Amino acid sequence: MRSDTAPAIRLEDYSPAPYTIKAVALDMQLAPKATQVHARLTIRRLTDTLPGTPLVLDGGGLELTSLSVNGAAIPVESYTVTPDKLELLSPPSEPFELEIGTRIDPDANTQLEGLYRSSGTYCTQCEAEGFRRITYFLDRPDVLAVYTTRIEARKSEAPILLGNGNPVESGPVPDKPERHFAIWHDPHPKPSYLFAMVAGDLAHVADSFTTRSGRNVDLKIYVEHGREDKCDWAMDSLKRSMRWDEEVFGCEYDLDVFNIVAVSDFNMGAMENKGLNIFNDKYVLADQDTATDQDYANIEAVIAHEYFHNWTGNRITCRDWFQLCLKEGLTVFRDQEFSSDMRSRAVKRISDVRLLKSHQFPEDAGPLAHPVRPRKYTEINNFYTATVYEKGAEVVRMLKTLVGAEGFKAGTDLYFQRHDGEATTIEAFLASFAEVSGQDLSHFALWYEQAGTPLVEVESSYDATAQSLTLKISQEIAPLPGQADSKPAVIPIRFGLIGSDGADMAFENVEGAEVRQDCLILSQRRQTVRFSGVSERPALSLLRGFSAPVKLHAPEKDQDLAFRAAHDSDPFNRWQASQTLATQSLLRLVRAAEAGEELVADSVVLDVFGSILSDGSLDPAFRALSLQLPGEADLAREIGKNVDPTAVLKARDALRAALGSTHMDLLRAALSQRESGPFDPGAEAAGKRALANQALAYFAASGASDAALIVNDLFDRADNMTDRLAALTLLVHGDLPGAQAALEAFRNRHETSSLALDKWFMVQATAPLSSTLKTVRDLAGHRLFDENNPNRVRSLVHAFATGNPSQFGRPDGAGFSFVADHVLALDARNPQVAARLLTCFRSWRAYEAQRSSHAEAALQRISEAENLSRDSRDIVDRCLQ
Ligand code: BES
Ligand code: ZN
Repeated sequence: MRSDTAPAIRLEDYSPAPYTIKAVALDMQLAPKATQVHARLTIRRLTDTLPGTPLVLDGGGLELTSLSVNGAAIPVESYTVTPDKLELLSPPSEPFELEIGTRIDPDANTQLEGLYRSSGTYCTQCEAEGFRRITYFLDRPDVLAVYTTRIEARKSEAPILLGNGNPVESGPVPDKPERHFAIWHDPHPKPSYLFAMVAGDLAHVADSFTTRSGRNVDLKIYVEHGREDKCDWAMDSLKRSMRWDEEVFGCEYDLDVFNIVAVSDFNMGAMENKGLNIFNDKYVLADQDTATDQDYANIEAVIAHEYFHNWTGNRITCRDWFQLCLKEGLTVFRDQEFSSDMRSRAVKRISDVRLLKSHQFPEDAGPLAHPVRPRKYTEINNFYTATVYEKGAEVVRMLKTLVGAEGFKAGTDLYFQRHDGEATTIEAFLASFAEVSGQDLSHFALWYEQAGTPLVEVESSYDATAQSLTLKISQEIAPLPGQADSKPAVIPIRFGLIGSDGADMAFENVEGAEVRQDCLILSQRRQTVRFSGVSERPALSLLRGFSAPVKLHAPEKDQDLAFRAAHDSDPFNRWQASQTLATQSLLRLVRAAEAGEELVADSVVLDVFGSILSDGSLDPAFRALSLQLPGEADLAREIGKNVDPTAVLKARDALRAALGSTHMDLLRAALSQRESGPFDPGAEAAGKRALANQALAYFAASGASDAALIVNDLFDRADNMTDRLAALTLLVHGDLPGAQAALEAFRNRHETSSLALDKWFMVQATAPLSSTLKTVRDLAGHRLFDENNPNRVRSLVHAFATGNPSQFGRPDGAGFSFVADHVLALDARNPQVAARLLTCFRSWRAYEAQRSSHAEAALQRISEAENLSRDSRDIVDRCLQ
């Protein structure tokens, strides 16, 4: 039976609540199975609310234990209550105090929203709508209150008691010698989703930071005992984030303490609760033996992201959840900029664009497509998407391009100053930039309204006599569910005209589009742009730095791409040129594989990759990225329909093998350059490791007789997780001799590190082998598998569904069926994680007929399940619609 379809919430229906809550005093008596919460809310009727208007508070599975108004118990006929709603039928018209007692069961909370326990530690997750699982409340982001939290627990169970804001008082509880308490006060008014508390037996590392105006801030990171030595990188990242935000955005921290708690059961990556960030421990804990270079980079970025929310999200928050990109898109933009300043800007940009294309583009092209600011939702948890986050960040980046660096700084200054302490909107955000720049941004605002990735097509012709270059440009968004037509957007296209000497050429004049510095500003469906004074036929470099989140089709010969891969002055486009070249070549190989023909790699690709491999003047991290072929999912996306993932895998394997055997000598040379010496997690050393491991991967793919030996040797000798995991992956994915022994050695070595074991599961789940499904099924029954731990589920089931296109997309449909089984099992316990797993079906219509019918059957089976959560119901319905 279908569960009832939940009503859609619509942006156009927004209205403020009739009452507001100015202050919250919470008292939480913690006990594993029966926590008693007492909330005292100071409530005021809004001036335009009629006296006697009912007050409706949200609840989430609550049990009410007491209720009083202004200190007096209220009669049963003056309220109604269910687990999900408390309604005061005729509240006082003057400000009043409402006291609510609720009882909750943290141990039974498997959905990890509200108050739950992770390895015995009490913790909370309130975004987006988790606070209502703690007490009845106006659980919406435009109700801003000052919170005081008193936490009480058994001292032995929870010696550490943490809340938002600053610590006020703590001590023993009179007459209860086994219990103690702590009181925290947060002076900054905030929405309920930023509430947090933690109680447990935790260790910590401490440091401090002095803000630019001289405030001394105590920094602490809390972790399970024995993990204190894995916090150095996170702490260092935090201090660098705090300094950077002062220097770049003028944002200073505003409390006396900043606490981070790492927990091992967490639905998301991390959460920006005011003064008390709670993290998935994979974004805190790192050391040489258990964390890869990618883990280090992620920790730096996530720590920064959550810290940056203190201004973009917390001080200035969202009026409603439709404005989610106001905090998330902007904060992702900020963390991307931070990482760019800490590392190589070019490498960071390439990595971010790869992520955008692999996650956001497919979302934006399928049944789950939605605007950066959606207009309706049924379950808000399903809108923490790549579109809101990554495309949202791209839109902020375009805004910066359009108003310029100075305009952008002035705009953010004005936004911070004008809206501090408010819950606001995208309109208010854009208005700040319009005002300081004098630009009309109303057309630009379409980026927030319209779903889909614009396809920009460019046809160029050069007239040698007239010395002119003409570009015929069009933009179009393919029809999407609920969006048949699209409007042309403002699209900034950074560009350069490259001469035969490899340098950017000058030109005299441009007609047909506005040009600002090196940027062409498109705004119409079709435009013809004419450059005059162009002295020779240029190689066209368009969309430099990926200046807009669009698909660019500008037909270019392999030779021109090879030229730009070597000479484009824009590093992003150099990378893009080599990727486009490899993509074109791979697509030809896919067609050959489908036709059962011999797979012969194009020599121009082999040559370009050889040049990159041997060019010691390039940054190793950049070379490593440039040597990486487009992934199977990238190719599937390019193919678009009738996708046969087996052919895609074959094509990619063929090119990898050809690259390996063609460049054997260069690869051996690169391998011998592996550096030894003390481990350094910094970007430069990480780049060298990435390059060496990329070379090793091609070497292994070459089928050289000593390949397995060399990879096994690296596995045995590796003194860090990056190299060890790279070797293990090659052994397992290549099904090389020694793979099973290496897996066993890895498991034994890391038996006690949950995060390292996640990698052990992930390597096996992503092996492109026909035996993998059986392996993954066995692993789901392994003693080390834990279906209640989101990280473990992600490392096995999610990794299989998203990181193993050929096996998830097996022609017999067994891969789909396996994942569907897990979605259903998970849905009852943790709907948020189940729904996220379910999104891996979103591109099901792109498969060839046999596979897509198997995928559809799997979706149908999920759709027909009884009591499906609202989260999964929403995704499955949209996928099938
Ligand atoms: N506010 C979110 C965390 C969140 C998301 C809580 C959805 C509840 C529901 C946090 O700031 C965030 O965006 N975290 C990201 C990581 C970040 C680096 C992009 C996450 O958790 O994936
Ligand atoms: Zn965020």
